Amino acid sequence: MSRKILVTSALPYANGSIHLGHLVEYIQTDIWVRFQKMRGNTCHYVCADDTHGTPIMLRAKTEGITPEQLISRVWQEHYDDFAAFHVAFDNYGSTNSNETKEFAQGIYRTLRANDLIEVRSIEQYYDPIESMFLPDRFIKGECPKCHAKDQYGDNCEVCGAAYAPTDLIEPFSAVSGAKPELRNSDHYFFKLSADSCQQFLREWTRSGSLQNEAANKMQEWLGAEGENKLTDWDISRDAPYFGFEIPDAPGKYFYVWLDAPVGYMGSFKQLCNKTGIDFNDYWKQGSDAELYHFIGKDILYFHALFWPAMLQHAGFRTPTKLFSHGFLTVNGEKMSKSRGTFITARSYIDHIKNTEYLRYYYAAKLNGSMEDLDLNLDDFVAKVNSDLIGKYINIASRCAGFISKKFDGKLGSTDSAATAEFKSSFDHGEIARCYEDRDYARALREIMRLADVANQYIAEKQPWAMAKLEGKEMELHEVCSTAMTMFRDLTLYLKPVLPELAVQVENFLNIAPLTWSGAWQALPSAHTINTYQHLATRLDPKLIEGMVAANQESLKPMTESHSETRHAEHQQRAIAPIAETISIDDFAKIDLRVARIANAEHVEGAEKLLKLTLDIGEENPRTVFAGIKSAYDPEKLKGRMTVMVANLAPRKMKFGMSEGMVLAASGETPGLFILSPDDGAQPGMRIK
Ligand code: 2FM
Ligand code: ZN
Repeated sequence: MSRKILVTSALPYANGSIHLGHLVEYIQTDIWVRFQKMRGNTCHYVCADDTHGTPIMLRAKTEGITPEQLISRVWQEHYDDFAAFHVAFDNYGSTNSNETKEFAQGIYRTLRANDLIEVRSIEQYYDPIESMFLPDRFIKGECPKCHAKDQYGDNCEVCGAAYAPTDLIEPFSAVSGAKPELRNSDHYFFKLSADSCQQFLREWTRSGSLQNEAANKMQEWLGAEGENKLTDWDISRDAPYFGFEIPDAPGKYFYVWLDAPVGYMGSFKQLCNKTGIDFNDYWKQGSDAELYHFIGKDILYFHALFWPAMLQHAGFRTPTKLFSHGFLTVNGEKMSKSRGTFITARSYIDHIKNTEYLRYYYAAKLNGSMEDLDLNLDDFVAKVNSDLIGKYINIASRCAGFISKKFDGKLGSTDSAATAEFKSSFDHGEIARCYEDRDYARALREIMRLADVANQYIAEKQPWAMAKLEGKEMELHEVCSTAMTMFRDLTLYLKPVLPELAVQVENFLNIAPLTWSGAWQALPSAHTINTYQHLATRLDPKLIEGMVAANQESLKPMTESHSETRHAEHQQRAIAPIAETISIDDFAKIDLRVARIANAEHVEGAEKLLKLTLDIGEENPRTVFAGIKSAYDPEKLKGRMTVMVANLAPRKMKFGMSEGMVLAASGETPGLFILSPDDGAQPGMRIK
């Protein structure tokens, strides 16, 4: 029987770009949705931009535009990025919509009627210059534990201590720099500590709505039976705030996290309005539809506690299951701007173009658990080239040409023994189970095993040799036709992961869109296929290098960057903005030394780098890779004095270990200029 399924991915904030970390989730969800649709289930996939809150309000102000203008621009960027990665939402909305507003206010009213809202006065920091209360992240000061300066109001990035903003020493507003004042204000709380919430959440946790790891976390948050560990949730923020006003509470707004998940409903409601789907069929209590939220493990708290408790007490159904995933690492480490591994979706599109490569790689690594996923850039290239191109595409590229050239595009009969072996080497139901359980890694391993069987068949038969022999036409026709059927089946199984490629294959094979039930019937003999054209090419590692280099470059302020936004920035300012003020202690952490360039040479295969050997008076000279090739002839650098950062953590680069950094100036106009100390400075002298 066909299932009714509603699926969501977390709503991305409207104050930043989509990056490869976000895409783990959207690609994971999209594959699952496409699989469900191919199975013949009714499945709707909705998402939206998460548009409210102080950061968005302040960013719009900085840009000199309204929050509405900011969120509409970002919405278009997000929408285009998702489309490029073939993430096919049935509706992509915005939380700043009438639909979301009505649901948020309606839910609030019902919670209030059920005695689950309480008003309490709380004391909070207030910025007297900006006339606003300050969220923790917008208050800075000295850490009360380790006395590091310039730490956020909720925790210290130096020693890791967590504290209240009122614990900060010499706090200041990060918005205006003003000394904040403590002021009282009424806040609205959702009474999560109420017995009914606790009881409900305990039951809901037991109902199998969470992965094991997430259920364990829930137990931790809920505490033992009889224990009451949950605290009430502050759902209001004071004006000025960009968000929805709370009914009957002038000047009070819903905290962004209240209306964000409600955005799932708002976006689905828009879909209902467009298509006539019955909203209540999916959201009323007791609905027989399934509801799944794909989320990152960092927002489990909101989705596993507040959200189901809110829904339950406001008369709606609760999620069937939360599917949490881990974070993305790149080359085994957190994405990093300085390493060039903080890669935006747009940058990937600009450099690599083929977004299905990334879909394939993520799928090959996703197993439905909450573990982190590593994008190893070398492995990415290897996997795409060996599996996708070498095993899968190769089947078509080795056999399809003969069908057009020798048989006028018409297929012949298939080799029944080979087809039988192909079928028996594989469990069709198992692949479906893997997709259903979000164990795409396993699904792809099985599919590639099947591709091996097909390739083995082709390797044994050697159609390219047959084509040169007299009297082998029939056999050649059969082998190539059999290979085409195998290729069709592989395409079917890969279609949730590679939707665009699958459409190209459907066009090339001249067949109707592939559905899950269409496997294992041989393509009919005399069926005409279209002329084979290249479906995909190998991934060139140079493209990856270029992408990483570009992301590294874009961080250097005022280097020649070609992005339009940066260009616009440049037109407004004569120099790059001066960075945040630092203390002398901060500066003293950087160990700058006079260095003699003992040697400088080109690095084979590197477009931008020179390899420098730097003498700072240590026993062994340092090796530093510097991105200055465009500006310097290595011969002319030899023997020169310059300045290096001597205590920078060594960094493993493609061409070797870099043990420091040389300093260079760059500006709006082209050019790159390394520093020189005045005559007389000796290698190893400290710069202070
Ligand atoms: O963490 C985030 O990026 C939030 N914008 C996710 C919201 S998910 C849902 F609740 F809307
Ligand atoms: Zn500290």
